[in-house]
Amino acid sequence: MISSLAADETNFLRLEKLLRLRSYFGDIYGSTDLCVLLYVLAKRERPKCVVELGTGLGVCTAWLSLALLEVGEGHIWTFDDGSHLLKKEIVRNAATSVRKLFNLPPNPDENLKALFLDLIRELDLEGNVTFVDQHIDYDERLRIVIDRIDAKEINWLFSDISHGPKEISTIIGTFVPKMSEYGSIFIDSASNNIYSAPYLERVVPLLNAGLLPQSPDFKVWADGPQNMTSRVFELIHLREARDGPQNSTAWIRIHPK
Ligand SMILES: C[S@@+](CC[C@H](N)C(=O)[O-])C[C@H]1O[C@@H](n2cnc3c(N)ncnc32)[C@H](O)[C@@H]1O
Repeated sequence: MISSLAADETNFLRLEKLLRLRSYFGDIYGSTDLCVLLYVLAKRERPKCVVELGTGLGVCTAWLSLALLEVGEGHIWTFDDGSHLLKKEIVRNAATSVRKLFNLPPNPDENLKALFLDLIRELDLEGNVTFVDQHIDYDERLRIVIDRIDAKEINWLFSDISHGPKEISTIIGTFVPKMSEYGSIFIDSASNNIYSAPYLERVVPLLNAGLLPQSPDFKVWADGPQNMTSRVFELIHLREARDGPQNSTAWIRIHPK
């Protein structure tokens, strides 16, 4: 007799909806396969605190939420200011289609928060996720994110807003001190970016040497952990063998020496 949550009938129905979400809307942000990859990894690694910068249409958020629901613990804080939904026609049209596909009530004043909350309720995944309606300003060193999450440390950070060297520098400077002993930072679209990939190749060895890059963004290290030298930072470029935007993710794995 199979009794695991994954074999539960409700879960099959939810999974079917998530497959539809991924198949119909994943391509808009290149998340069609990434969401499944993150789901499988999350099931294996069981991150307790996941932070996602940039919810988009919630494709990865929903798959990650399912993983956490299935393992029985963990929470995702997902941040978005809703700007794409306001400004981009393709995202507005997709939002309307998401509502039609899942029979969500139409919303003439559509906004991302309302859409996300309706969707996540329909998928019955509310328990594991908090949507934070927040504009993120990299010049404020992302402190706002740390202040808004209710967790001592972050196990996974998935950054899917901006991926230039300057933003990556701010992301690393802000979040590495808050990462758990074993952790992962995913930076979408960075591994195929002609500026960001070489930047990461330079900066990760510096982290491994316990050195701080010479950048004002790293001032935040002053109040960071003293145990940096006891950690290993491993850079893995996840590159998709397909052309197109958002076809790579940089993965920095952190673990003790
Ligand atoms: C690439 S999409 C996220 C895709 C999503 N993570 C996925 O896997 O499907 C980027 C999102 O970031 C949001 N965004 C862009 N700039 C932002 C900012 N400065 N602060 C907060 N959200 C922002 C946009 O509204 C958009 O929904």
